[in-house]
Amino acid sequence: MNRAISNWSPQSWHHKKAVQQVDYQDEAHLSSVLSQLRKHPPLVTSWEIEGLRKQLAEAASGQRFVLQGGDCAESFEDCRVEFIKNRLKILLQMSVILIYGLKMPVIRVGRFAGQYAKPRSDSTETRNGVSLPSYRGDNINAAQFTQEARTPDPDRLMQAYYCSAIQLNLVRALADAGFADLHNADNWNLSFAQEAPYIDRYHSIIRKIHRALDFAKTVSDHPIGGLGQVTFFTSHEALHLPYEEAFTRDVVHANATYNLSTHLPWIGKRTLFDESAHVEYMRGIRNPIGIKIGHDMSPDDLVMLARHLNPLNDLGRLMVISRMGASKVEDCLPRMIDAIQRAGVNVLWCCDPMHGNTETASGGIKTRKFENILSELESVIDIHGRMNTILGGVHFELTGEDVTECVGGASGVEEEDLNQRYHSTVDPRLNVSQSLEMALKIAQKYQEFEII
Ligand code: PEP
Ligand code: CO
Repeated sequence: MNRAISNWSPQSWHHKKAVQQVDYQDEAHLSSVLSQLRKHPPLVTSWEIEGLRKQLAEAASGQRFVLQGGDCAESFEDCRVEFIKNRLKILLQMSVILIYGLKMPVIRVGRFAGQYAKPRSDSTETRNGVSLPSYRGDNINAAQFTQEARTPDPDRLMQAYYCSAIQLNLVRALADAGFADLHNADNWNLSFAQEAPYIDRYHSIIRKIHRALDFAKTVSDHPIGGLGQVTFFTSHEALHLPYEEAFTRDVVHANATYNLSTHLPWIGKRTLFDESAHVEYMRGIRNPIGIKIGHDMSPDDLVMLARHLNPLNDLGRLMVISRMGASKVEDCLPRMIDAIQRAGVNVLWCCDPMHGNTETASGGIKTRKFENILSELESVIDIHGRMNTILGGVHFELTGEDVTECVGGASGVEEEDLNQRYHSTVDPRLNVSQSLEMALKIAQKYQEFEII
């Protein structure tokens, strides 16, 4: 399978350097879970993945825009109907604002139905003199600070698969039932966002879209095709390689090998290097893939990796997600863009303005400032504009809940509020109101329309 990819197999990563992997105490237990997973049905199909590849190719040439968003780390506890629906609603609301502001279709990609494994800077965490293994995501161990909770348990991989399937089932059922249809946008209201500072602006956009839809229907005498068919794609960091390998399947009709646990897997910053097992694994799957690049990557390394991961130079295969930080992006991103352009390598540029802007608030709690996130994003839009390249999408850690994890924005979350509703087990997410405001700011940046 994947005849064009030489010396690759779903297992060839075993011969490379695998970092951020899990030390299981009971290897036999792990093997038995993996062999069950290998027999279970996949979560997504090759047709969907091919559809996404096509759409991403269009995004790379400026005809579509990607909105990728969701939790930093999903938790099993959040596999609940309201939580899943609220996250869909905020992604839908943001996508409508972007469609309106950018005047192009939006590809919605969730960081969900599989975003369970987390890379960690330290393998242990120490509290009051006690050291335990770090929390590595719900598919590996639990966040509570006890020896038992922090011990990796292979059964959690099975639970991650079930939770992913349950979520996908609801997402697909809602989409099929018309929940995600633009005509039903009035149903996406989130109860606690009614007071959000920009909610009126959002409603006025929805009204304008409704009027445009009605007008088009009147002149053509038909409902607008496609708008009732909103699709969500899924994505996660393909960190836990044995799990990803278990979902790596040959698809005979396509003559290729796919990762069928998600549509769009990505390689995180910590596992992106030459000779990395993650790079080796991702090289051979047919899915579109993302790579996260930080300020410390050299432009030459980026070109080398991009060629290695996309040897046929297909448009829509490789998404490069820059996450440099507001203060470094002006210095770093232009050099990367320049190198990629000169090498003639096709990539889809996206911006993750979250991960380069993480800081520790005075109480020792991890946070991000809305203003820094927006500032990085605006710089990236300006840089691409100046260099005549295309920013094809944005990537956020966000939630449909009213959390207090990031500070700033018009919602007025301040540092002293962080403890009120801080629920993320890893990185801080934009709350509903901050997400809505962020989408409006992006649209404004593209369109320079009046927000207030
Ligand atoms: C993440 O997306 O949660 C993450 C860990 O990102 P990065 O690899 O860019 O640090
Ligand atoms: Co994160």
